[in-house]
Amino acid sequence: MKKIMVLFGTRPEAIKMCPVVKELEKHTDFFETVVCVTGQHKEMLQQVLDVFDVKPKFNLNIMKTKQSLFSITQDILGKIESILDDEKPDLLMVHGDTSATFVSALAGFYKNIPVAHVEAGLRTNDIYSPFPEEFNRQAVGVIAKYHFAPTEMAKNNLLHEGKNENNIYITGNTAIDALKTTVRNDYHNDLLDWVNNDKLVILTAHRRENIGESMKNMFSAINRVVEENNNIKVVFPIHMNPIVRELADLYLKSPRIKIIEPMDVIDFHNLLNKSYLVLTDSGGIQEEAPSLGKPVLVMRDTTERPEGVKAGTLKLVGTQEDTIYNEFTSLLNNPLEYEKMSKASNPYGDGYASKRIIDILKADMVKGE
Ligand code: UD1
Ligand code: UDP
Repeated sequence: MKKIMVLFGTRPEAIKMCPVVKELEKHTDFFETVVCVTGQHKEMLQQVLDVFDVKPKFNLNIMKTKQSLFSITQDILGKIESILDDEKPDLLMVHGDTSATFVSALAGFYKNIPVAHVEAGLRTNDIYSPFPEEFNRQAVGVIAKYHFAPTEMAKNNLLHEGKNENNIYITGNTAIDALKTTVRNDYHNDLLDWVNNDKLVILTAHRRENIGESMKNMFSAINRVVEENNNIKVVFPIHMNPIVRELADLYLKSPRIKIIEPMDVIDFHNLLNKSYLVLTDSGGIQEEAPSLGKPVLVMRDTTERPEGVKAGTLKLVGTQEDTIYNEFTSLLNNPLEYEKMSKASNPYGDGYASKRIIDILKADMVKGE
């Protein structure tokens, strides 16, 4: 019997790790599963835990309003040591690239506990973009024993860094595992009544490096386009970061932009499925939208998800006001361009990533027992 501690702290990690927890829990004959959440997010994390019915044994509860990278790092490290000493897990599993991810992996390294990295190998190769995520995932890549890469491209990134091929496994992305459990064709939500016959545009924005001038540019551009096109309505399930909220209040003024509280993942995935197009700086949405055939204008200068750009569903539009305005306007007014981008394609797997991950761990960790 091996004890596996699954650690995560933010909404997107939870969405992509709950399917892994559920899969692990099917194997009680081989694995004892312990879930430890850092609580880097609070309400937005709880929403996901509720949907997937995952009950953590530990919650470090570290979130503070307008928290800094320093407070997240020191609070997790300060609280996790005694838990690792008491639980003595055989393996830590972390996901992606948040501060919760990096600090959890670092704690594993300090305690000499092997680390498995889910969603390994995504790269922009610029540690300031996205900040601090690119550094976080590279650092976890140095520590990890198992690299669960979602795609061939991610695997190649790891090989170029000299990682041992025997430790890299292509599994698909667990985001697709989650998406397969949430989207229903008969979904209805009152928001769809508000949108009526107009085109539904979904907006999300939260990236740390975009907060400030870039986010002001995004919001101003979107507001201008909405004012000029009376056949679209924008729904913005806003992140709980108070700075994002202040900027949205200042620059998103049109009555055809509805700012709502974060949606639970079932509602959000289904709304995405009913949308016409998406504007975002999110990472996870770049994985979900291609499999639903929804064009995404990515309001960032770089992406670690080139598979979606190659598939044609994602377009990088940067963070300048005029560029976002022009690209958004052009996509609305050019049916051929829209048609090209809205072809469903799924570079991120078949929805069985979690099963593959657990099968690999079972074969490697419990052989001979
Ligand atoms: C974090 C991750 C980012 C990930 C994002 C997903 C880091 C450095 N950043 O960024 O990689 O893309 O999560 O959303 O790890 N807040 C609440 N309630 C919540 C969540 C957040 O009130 O449930 C507020 C708090 O005031 C908090 C602030 O949002 O201080 C920012 O949260 P934080 O986790 O530091 O940054 P994110 O932008 O959420
Ligand atoms: N999401 C959600 N509710 C919302 C907005 C997004 O459940 O109101 C989901 C979305 O489907 C995706 C994830 O949250 O799976 C993306 O999270 P976020 O944009 O916060 O972080 P990132 O992916 O950029 O790290």
